Amino acid sequence: MMTSVSFLLLGLSLVTSADAAFRFASYYGDHMVLQQQPSSAVIWGYGELGSQVTVSLIRGLETISKITVAANGEGVWRVQLPPMEYGGPYHLVAQQFAQNISSIHLVDILFGDVWLCSGQSNMEMTVSQMFNASEELKMAADYPYIRLFVAALVQSQTELRDLARVDLPWSLPSAENLGHGDFSYFSAVCWVFGRHLARRLRYPIGLVESSWGGTPVEAWSSKTALKKCGLSGDSGELTESFQFFDTAAGPCEYSVLWNAMIHPLLNMTIKGAIWYQGEQNTAMNTDLYNCTFPALISDWRHSFNEGSHSQTDPNFPFGFVQLSTYQKSQQKDNYPVIRWHQTADYGYVPNPKMPNTFMAVAMDLGDEKSPYGSVHPRDKETVGYRLYLGACAIAYGEKDIPFQGPYPVYIDVYYEYMYMNITYDQQLVIAGSFDNIFEVLCKSSSGESYEWLPIAASFLSVSDKVITVPFVWCSALGVRYAWDDWPCDYKQCPIYSAQQQLPASLFVKYFT
Ligand SMILES: *[C@@H]1O[C@H](CO)[C@@H](O)[C@H](O)[C@H]1NC(C)=O
Ligand SMILES: *[C@@H]1O[C@H](CO)[C@@H](O)[C@H](O)[C@H]1NC(C)=O
Ligand SMILES: *[C@@H]1O[C@H](CO)[C@@H](O)[C@H](O)[C@H]1NC(C)=O
Ligand SMILES: *[C@@H]1O[C@H](CO)[C@@H](O)[C@H](O)[C@H]1NC(C)=O
Ligand SMILES: *[C@@H]1O[C@H](CO)[C@@H](O)[C@H](O)[C@H]1NC(C)=O
Repeated sequence: MMTSVSFLLLGLSLVTSADAAFRFASYYGDHMVLQQQPSSAVIWGYGELGSQVTVSLIRGLETISKITVAANGEGVWRVQLPPMEYGGPYHLVAQQFAQNISSIHLVDILFGDVWLCSGQSNMEMTVSQMFNASEELKMAADYPYIRLFVAALVQSQTELRDLARVDLPWSLPSAENLGHGDFSYFSAVCWVFGRHLARRLRYPIGLVESSWGGTPVEAWSSKTALKKCGLSGDSGELTESFQFFDTAAGPCEYSVLWNAMIHPLLNMTIKGAIWYQGEQNTAMNTDLYNCTFPALISDWRHSFNEGSHSQTDPNFPFGFVQLSTYQKSQQKDNYPVIRWHQTADYGYVPNPKMPNTFMAVAMDLGDEKSPYGSVHPRDKETVGYRLYLGACAIAYGEKDIPFQGPYPVYIDVYYEYMYMNITYDQQLVIAGSFDNIFEVLCKSSSGESYEWLPIAASFLSVSDKVITVPFVWCSALGVRYAWDDWPCDYKQCPIYSAQQQLPASLFVKYFT
């Protein structure tokens, strides 16, 4: 008797009184979508130390599964449901057998695919802020099998077990939930992506938004991920003190959003993630982004797999938006550098350093007159659609869906003829001017330094898949395409794919 009492007291000291209440973790609720088979959904919550908890999954009058576990020494219980085919609705009942029997239950639960949407303000930007917002808001009611969840903006110096707060508990789409206010919820990119997926897949889609404007990749990275890129220490500082955003910058300290807004979600089984971030890193650790971003992807994959006890795929599909535009006709800034680094310096994805990824190129979607600042372009429909094409190909294995813009496979430099032939992987569609968009790297006349020489459109010739770029002015040491913050007007970059009108990404190539 004495031993069990002292165990209880000792145990209680580990748990706050709020934790002791019998309940589900913060991100389980009525109307949620749980990840379908072949994975199993993980459910966890809090209870009395040492109590037995039975979790039952019920459809109508039928109990599909019933699992009993004991709450551990911290008053946390956890079960893994059997793999379920998509569909529903189900009820989930949890019963705690302590001194008393108590019971909690969730209703209207669906199985389908769960996608996490994260990043900075362009992910946070809401449906009500995008072009055609009113039509989009009206569509909300047509998608009752998309369910939305939004984590609140919280930062922490230590890894949190659960979300400290929730902005939107699992909900059906409605005009109110999609247009709650500027940069709040629900994310336009996440919604458009999910809406296209739901229409194609015809089963439930759960969208979990955890994003915060004005934040660098380092804030979303664990200490482990940062160490891989030589970043230790505790703080991130902007190298330049200019403000990008009309909205205030979010936390920039290392790992604080990983700790509070990602770590708690690791125990949930997910299908994949999409990400729209990078603007903040044009002024912070820019040259490291080719390491920090791939490291974040690997670390999230590893951690979600571990947190879900192997239920989330250790190589889960990860989609992202390559940065759009910020300043037109300005001095060169770091936008092209981040775009390049977003591909681990390959120019395309997937690639050996970023397997199972997909990218929406967005540098042709500039929006100078955006009332939210030119860094926040309003065409989120095209962004979400391009991400969706990538998901079809990478996450859903639809081999016939083109999802990449044209990319150069060979660059043959003919020094004797003083031109190079750039051969793309696919048929090109020319939609805008080539003027000055290709640049050739030349030694300066003094021979001391190097400079990029823009090539006027009249010197180029384009045929089928090949672009011929002359360099009669100097001996070329490299070539690059669209290396500019704002390379073209809306949907008028020169090179697109024939099938889906997907823009070519920027590239740079040095000759040795
Ligand atoms: C058990 O139930 C009784 C009566 O409803 C209540 O007074 C008591 O606080 C409960 N005990 C626990 C541990 O919940
Ligand atoms: C990343 O890019 C920088 C230049 O911006 C380069 O010096 C470095 O070698 C690159 N690192 C990796 C891992 O590719
Ligand atoms: C959730 O996952 C994290 C990371 O793997 C782990 O530390 C934690 O114990 C897990 N929580 C539960 C309730 O299983
Ligand atoms: C807005 O809606 C109109 C009419 O449906 C359509 O033509 C246009 O492409 C849409 N714009 C965007 C950015 O989606
Ligand atoms: C370069 O490409 C053009 C257009 O396809 C072709 O006519 C020309 O022969 C190529 N040059 C060489 C040296 O192969």
